[in-house]
Amino acid sequence: MKPVKIGILGLGTVGGGTVNVLQRNAAVIRGRAGRDIIITRACAKDLTRQRICDTQGIQLTTDPFEVVNDPDIDIILELMGGQSPAKELVLQAIANGKHVVTANKALIALHGNEIFKKASECGVTVAFEAAVAGGVPIIKAIREGLSGNQIEWLAGIINGTGNFILTEMRDKGRDFSDVLAEAQALGYAEADPTFDVEGIDAGHKLTILASIAFGIPLQFDKVYTEGITGITRDDVEYAEELGYRIKHLGIARKTAVGIELRVHPTLIPERRLIANVDGVKNAVLVYGDAVGPTLYYGAGAGAEPTASAVVADIVDVVRALTSDPENRVPHLAFQPNAIVEQPILSAEQFTTAYYLRLTAEDKPGVLAEVTKILAEHNISIEAIIQKEPQLGFTTLPVIMLTQKTLEKEMNAAIAEIEALSSITGKVSRIRLETLG
Ligand code: HSE
Repeated sequence: MKPVKIGILGLGTVGGGTVNVLQRNAAVIRGRAGRDIIITRACAKDLTRQRICDTQGIQLTTDPFEVVNDPDIDIILELMGGQSPAKELVLQAIANGKHVVTANKALIALHGNEIFKKASECGVTVAFEAAVAGGVPIIKAIREGLSGNQIEWLAGIINGTGNFILTEMRDKGRDFSDVLAEAQALGYAEADPTFDVEGIDAGHKLTILASIAFGIPLQFDKVYTEGITGITRDDVEYAEELGYRIKHLGIARKTAVGIELRVHPTLIPERRLIANVDGVKNAVLVYGDAVGPTLYYGAGAGAEPTASAVVADIVDVVRALTSDPENRVPHLAFQPNAIVEQPILSAEQFTTAYYLRLTAEDKPGVLAEVTKILAEHNISIEAIIQKEPQLGFTTLPVIMLTQKTLEKEMNAAIAEIEALSSITGKVSRIRLETLG
């Protein structure tokens, strides 16, 4: 069989890692795919830059359209990231009858519905395993391995940079900005690192996971996102005293009234395996009605872990090159006519437990006022700790864990608590999930 020819868009961290893995593991990859895979062309913004890979034998260009319009190329690897010109290039490649492998979560979360429709019309595959959780084969696991289940919920640490920052802050007491700079130097962070720390990147990934789990269209605009910048070292310590870890989770859950799609810092019991996933590692907990809870763990970012997923997609595409397009694994797990809109809940409709931290005056009756407000909103308290006032202060921190409640009730209760004259400043609130 003649070799399959690859064109690469982007020779940065992921592109460079992919070249290295394809070259180093060529023999084993050929054994699995059944054909030789050769990189014939690649595009990079700056051809003079030093790279992590050897580009000898690869025709280089700065014009990505030269690569997607090359009639000899069978598969395009879109590893440049961002929305434009990635979207135009992918659509052009599809129109040219080429299969596409991408690591671009923003592209799939925001434009996937249009891209998959076009790919189906043109009979080509767009594969995107590397878009979620780096090297962890979570797309394949949900789309294929769990296809006999109704997925009830999933919860994941799906941003390696954010998890690296939270871990270093907790374990080594390092500063947020210092750890973020290290994550950027290691190639973990997005081009705009606010995407990592504000939950946008995790929101993109959650959009994709929810779609393949529940058979709904991709809809990033309906994901609630909250970042990690408001987490203080005090919160981390108080949570640990109560037996919890704070993790930045993406959660998708099917309820009787609709689907919750949310990304936010979350307290989780420290005995859960996922609470002990540290550094740049990602983990996704998926609950299927038949299988129960399953956990997928591994490196969520970095050159070769992401390349591992890209190359797995290339092998899948090569194996499917001769199969009838109608009988390939569907892009979003469900056949296109089985993808249906379902209501996505607003944040006020979420049901979750909470960690609350408030600053109260050190005088009798204050806690009674706070607990009365919570009771009026039907919110039960699970645990409460009151710390000593710091020397010279007349206020003290009070930390509470509540049972599950509707977010709307919690918002109203917090507004009333903040209005009390005996409470200073804002109430800090972090959602809590037992993930049982
Ligand atoms: N910036 C992303 C992360 C890269 O840190 O998880 C992998 O998608």
